[in-house]
Amino acid sequence: MSQNPYMPQLATIIEAFDETPDIKTFRVVLQDETAMRAFCFEPGQVAQLSVFGTGESTFVICSPPTRMEYLQFSVMRVGELTHRLHTLKEGDPVGLRGPLGNHFDYRAMRGKDIIFVGGGLGLAPLRTLLLFMLDNRPDYGKITLIYGGRTTEHLCFKDELREWAERGDMRVELTVDNPDKGWAHRVGVVPAVLAELGVSPENAVAVTCGPPIMIRFTIQALEQLGFKDEQIVTTLERRMKCGVGLCGRCNIGEKFVCVDGPVFTQAQLKGLPQEF
Ligand SMILES: Cc1cc2nc3c(=O)[nH]c(=O)nc-3n(C[C@H](O)[C@H](O)[C@H](O)COP(=O)(O)OP(=O)(O)OC[C@H]3O[C@@H](n4cnc5c(N)ncnc54)[C@H](O)[C@@H]3O)c2cc1C
Ligand code: FES
Repeated sequence: MSQNPYMPQLATIIEAFDETPDIKTFRVVLQDETAMRAFCFEPGQVAQLSVFGTGESTFVICSPPTRMEYLQFSVMRVGELTHRLHTLKEGDPVGLRGPLGNHFDYRAMRGKDIIFVGGGLGLAPLRTLLLFMLDNRPDYGKITLIYGGRTTEHLCFKDELREWAERGDMRVELTVDNPDKGWAHRVGVVPAVLAELGVSPENAVAVTCGPPIMIRFTIQALEQLGFKDEQIVTTLERRMKCGVGLCGRCNIGEKFVCVDGPVFTQAQLKGLPQEF
């Protein structure tokens, strides 16, 4: 990050493509090559992307630090800033402020089985950690991804889902609520698939991200399978402004999502007001 935590660095979009009808993926590099080479972050951290003349918003860096040719962001079009971002294309400048926030404790996960449970764009932060683990494959036990969306076209990273399913060193279970003709995978919501698979909590960690309702039922399903609070990790969204713990915009009880999060264990969340 630059010396002034509010000062974005200039970056250029080197690739932009549609992921789903309302999600676009951007690959960006810092214009200062030395700063790009020095850019250090951990899986799960976020950055503020700015569109000049419009403002800035928080997005997870969804490429891993083991692949530093670019920094990837996948952005859902919801409001003013994200609409403007979606109009940008290869060669356009953006501002980048970060990395911000805490990260997945991948060191504590070494030697364990990892169960990723994602819904929709919730796969973005999971993708960072999953690719990081695949790039350090011997450090981790069995890896399972359970991922779902409303329909096939709402699934993100479709090419990678296929690649991961074909790797042979991880298990991929896909599900949609409303299947197309020809859908060859599961039908139903992600927490139901989790319960159906009967995933074992022994020496395992579950990492989940998705819409709040999905996270809530996923945590319930994990608890029913015997997962303890310390074995359940999630990453939260909260509107952010400063991103550095100063403005008080992103608090949940006494915690600030921008510096204490966005990654929390269920044990940490249990001590906080249930307002998400
Ligand atoms: C830690 C973190 C990581 C995030 N990662 C991503 C990501 O990888 N990809 C992505 O597309 N988005 C991500 N978001 C959400 C993203 O920051 C917001 O969607 C974005 O700020 C919306 O800006 P806007 O100006 O387009 O919309 P606005 O005009 O500000 O809002 C449009 C609508 O979206 C809702 N909204 C705005 N911000 C949030 C938020 N943070 N959480 C829930 N609802 C919100 C508003 O209530 C409103 O209904 C993340 C947010 C946080 C805090
Ligand atoms: S965004 Fe300002 S305190 Fe968290």
